[in-house]
Amino acid sequence: MSEGYERIREQVCDYAKRMAIQGWVTGSAGNVSVRVPDEEDRYVITPTSVKYEMLAPENIVVCDGEGDEVIEVENAASFELPMHVAIYEARPDVMAIIHTHSLYCTILSVLRVNLPPIVEELVPYLGGEILVSEYGQSGSDEIADNVVAALGQKAAAMIANHGNVCVGKNLGKAFAACALLERTARVYVESLKLQGLGVGKITTLPDEVVETEMGMYEAIRDFS
Ligand code: 13P
Repeated sequence: MSEGYERIREQVCDYAKRMAIQGWVTGSAGNVSVRVPDEEDRYVITPTSVKYEMLAPENIVVCDGEGDEVIEVENAASFELPMHVAIYEARPDVMAIIHTHSLYCTILSVLRVNLPPIVEELVPYLGGEILVSEYGQSGSDEIADNVVAALGQKAAAMIANHGNVCVGKNLGKAFAACALLERTARVYVESLKLQGLGVGKITTLPDEVVETEMGMYEAIRDFS
């Protein structure tokens, strides 16, 4: 096995465990992947249905876009592989993907409420308003297409009745996007509650600020 795969499998395992420690998933929910650099149609992805406390680098799958393994392991690729592959195909800039079921994103995804630009960091780091996708069943081509559409050129999308997906140039960036997205979703849900009680009024960033910050997003997206 190539040494390159081994290092990437360790990183994918490490970030999957970090995702669980953050409380963004329970059990074996969620998944993490990386596109193998300089190799056509090669992905390193968490296995399906392995609890994160049991997960080890040996369980991490290296496969092509169809899920056919290129090294032999006991586990099968996450059943969300088609969604990961669809994102990699639509977004040549994306090298890592993290899909979580974090609480506040899931609440917004159930309500089908998009996350508007309510805090400064959202636009430069995530690329603007974060949309909830149309519904698609887990593992289907439909969920893959709908998530690609909601993601567009941004760093995150929420997935209807399900959770979210965050992308980046590397796992560190995808993970940071998940943290920022979940924190902002929480700010929004709590603000909606207070607004509903008659306390204050939710105000989004001015349009001209959003426009300037979109330019920052384009630049920041390319940083490692
Ligand atoms: P896998 O265990 O197959 O990755 O599925 C978990 C999940 O969250 C599906 O959306």
